[in-house]
Amino acid sequence: MRLHKFLSRSGVASLRKAEEMIAAGRIRVNGQVAAGPGAAVDPARDRVEADGREVRAEERVYLLLHKPAGYLCALEDRFGRPLVTDLLRDIPERVYHVGRLDLDSEGMLFLTNDGDFALKLTHPRHEIEKTYRIRLRAPLSGEAAEKLRRGVSLENGFRTAPAGVKILSGDCREVEITIREGKKRQVKRMLQAVGNRVDYLKRTAVGPLSLGDLGKGKWRRLTAEEVALFME
Ligand code: URA
Repeated sequence: MRLHKFLSRSGVASLRKAEEMIAAGRIRVNGQVAAGPGAAVDPARDRVEADGREVRAEERVYLLLHKPAGYLCALEDRFGRPLVTDLLRDIPERVYHVGRLDLDSEGMLFLTNDGDFALKLTHPRHEIEKTYRIRLRAPLSGEAAEKLRRGVSLENGFRTAPAGVKILSGDCREVEITIREGKKRQVKRMLQAVGNRVDYLKRTAVGPLSLGDLGKGKWRRLTAEEVALFME
């Protein structure tokens, strides 16, 4: 395995950061400063050190969390607010959230230490569908629904791709939105662009997986088959 990949798989740093660490001479393989990111390492035999500390090949971990409102998708918070990782118990590996849900949003959130998996899910090139159930301040008009289906211009000029829109309630305030993009606060901004406001948002599906009956605040490991759905 190439050295920078090994470092990112082991949770030391992202691929790019790992390359920087190698270039800065912070990584040693069997006692020698590593020559470059492309150096081959055998995780079973070679001793790799980052800043003098041994790096162990980490088990790859894939979790699905039902994020409750009030938890932050961040590694730390200077205001001491609860973090999504506070909800994980007995996970010795360092895991990172894949994409983000806002502080007040709920629903499906993946956490992993596998950078490749995270990239598959978040890179726009892969166009993974994400479905959100939302409650709106005002009823969604037929005209606004059509605009969202065709794509709208956000306040910064970004034009969204066509979205799926399903009205779920008679008062037209419960709506399901499906998008293949993941700009910051995208769903809320899309609804703002058609003069409405999101009062509640829950991510209910990502690609072929849905939240199912996983309780709020609970998590489970993905099966190997579920991971494979995103990795092909
Ligand atoms: N879109 C939003 O506006 N907020 C989220 O948390 C997720 C998607």
